[in-house]
Amino acid sequence: MSKVIVISGTPGTGKTLVSSILAKKINGLHVNLSELVLKEKLYKEIDKERETVVADLRKLVPRLIEIIKSTNSPIIIEGHYAEIVPESFIDIVIILRTHPKELEKRLKEKKFKESKIRENIQAEILGVCSYNALNTYNKEKIYEIDTTSKTPDETVELILKIIEGKGNEYKIGKIDWLTVLEKEGTLSEFFRER
Ligand SMILES: Nc1ncnc2c1ncn2[C@@H]1O[C@H](COP(=O)(O)OP(=O)(O)OP(=O)(O)O)[C@@H](O)[C@H]1O
Ligand SMILES: [Mg+2]
Repeated sequence: MSKVIVISGTPGTGKTLVSSILAKKINGLHVNLSELVLKEKLYKEIDKERETVVADLRKLVPRLIEIIKSTNSPIIIEGHYAEIVPESFIDIVIILRTHPKELEKRLKEKKFKESKIRENIQAEILGVCSYNALNTYNKEKIYEIDTTSKTPDETVELILKIIEGKGNEYKIGKIDWLTVLEKEGTLSEFFRER
């Protein structure tokens, strides 16, 4: 079976952009979970209020396993809930992280509405995607990359290093925005109503 790389992270951390560059470089199959769910109608409902699509995991997970089994090329599965693929199919999990201030900028550019920006920044500060990955996969398979002051190409180069087994320093557990923001004196800015 081919190599399967999961790329997770809060919206705006760059999953889609980075995955598309990576897929070209390694001649891999790029699976964008949100797109797949919409295209193949693998959802339970569309929550209009929160502007989110609720995926139907009973349909989506078997479909992903089918895709994984159907190719010999490397596969990149990306999405903010990418920890749904069973561990036995996964080789590497990469969580993209971004400083909350930079994330705010990127989400504004992506025209997310204010409440959605806030919800996502808070999730990034608390490390929700890392938490979900740790709850699902052996921590030895999980890496985190801080994309804040990297270009998408630089992030891809790091992922290639990790794939080659030379990315020990990126093992999960070193990025903690709570501590960073507390030191900067900006923590409450992201949590209390302004
Ligand atoms: N170092 C970087 N890595 C990735 N993206 C970056 C970087 N610097 C700036 N960006 C910008 O951040 C945005 C990231 O958007 P992208 O759609 O790839 O994120 P995403 O994680 O896929 O979000 P979503 O979960 O909403 O699909 C892009 O507009 C990109 O140009
Ligand atoms: Mg995306």
